[in-house]
Amino acid sequence: MLIALCSAKGAPGVTTSGLALALSWPRPVVLAELDPAGGDVLTGYGRGELSAGGLADLELAARRGGLARHLDSQLLWLDPERRARLLPGLADPAGARHVNWDRLAASLASVEDGAIDVIADCGRLRAEHFPVAVVRRAAAVVLVTGSTLRAMHAATQAIAELRGEDGHVGMVAMLVVGPGEPYGEREIGEALGVQVIGSLPRDAKAGSVLSDGAPAGRLFTQSALLRAARTVATRLVEFAAAHETRLAPPPPPAPVPAPATTIGGSRVR
Ligand SMILES: Nc1ncnc2c1ncn2[C@@H]1O[C@H](COP(=O)(O)OP(=O)(O)OP(=O)(O)O)[C@@H](O)[C@H]1O
Ligand SMILES: [Mg+2]
Repeated sequence: MLIALCSAKGAPGVTTSGLALALSWPRPVVLAELDPAGGDVLTGYGRGELSAGGLADLELAARRGGLARHLDSQLLWLDPERRARLLPGLADPAGARHVNWDRLAASLASVEDGAIDVIADCGRLRAEHFPVAVVRRAAAVVLVTGSTLRAMHAATQAIAELRGEDGHVGMVAMLVVGPGEPYGEREIGEALGVQVIGSLPRDAKAGSVLSDGAPAGRLFTQSALLRAARTVATRLVEFAAAHETRLAPPPPPAPVPAPATTIGGSRVR
């Protein structure tokens, strides 16, 4: 399943939320950094200690016709348990205009025939070279937003835009970072007419581990942020799976044997 995360405006925490979700995902998962403004995880969470070609190298491989074959070699493990992997984003955002998002989306929507989920950090809607193809292919599109009036204003426009994308009506959900500033999940859902999949608390300590590689400490996995991420991840898997089933083409009709007709004594099919 492909799940696209994006934001309306500002930096509400798409990348941090994507990482928290990937580390909490109940199934094997790849966090794909597709933000055309560039990737952050290698220099943030990864503290610059890891390197991989990531999206830029994958795009080069794809041009030689081997995207699916080369995907594995561009991924890095995010956790010691080896459940979550990272496709690092562009080191140079100038490369975004060369990425064939259509081809990439098709490949990411069916990694290992759907046995591996992909969370795609698509960055900000309306940004130049925003990966629209990924949003169109996704089983669920999640708008990450704050809960301030300013965030609600931006989110309203973004939801209208996402719903304008063919075939995505009803598949859009919201994830609230820092609920209660002042609006809560229920108010946001009702005001925008969109399902709120859940919220992640503001948790400066755990947030800085994810966004800037601060030392994790023993209690990181028990932090408020990661505990909430586990709940959201479980709900998101269900939400996306329900929509993917709905989107799946109906099974081809069983062949109906042609009626055997008897004309003038000879059987004709
Ligand atoms: N749940 C959270 N609790 C506390 N701080 C958070 C949380 N989520 C994000 N942040 C902080 O907000 C800042 C922006 O986060 P992040 O880089 O994830 O945003 P983004 O939407 O991906 O931004 P960009 O548009 O730059 O890609 C970071 O300093 C991060 O630590
Ligand atoms: Mg980001």
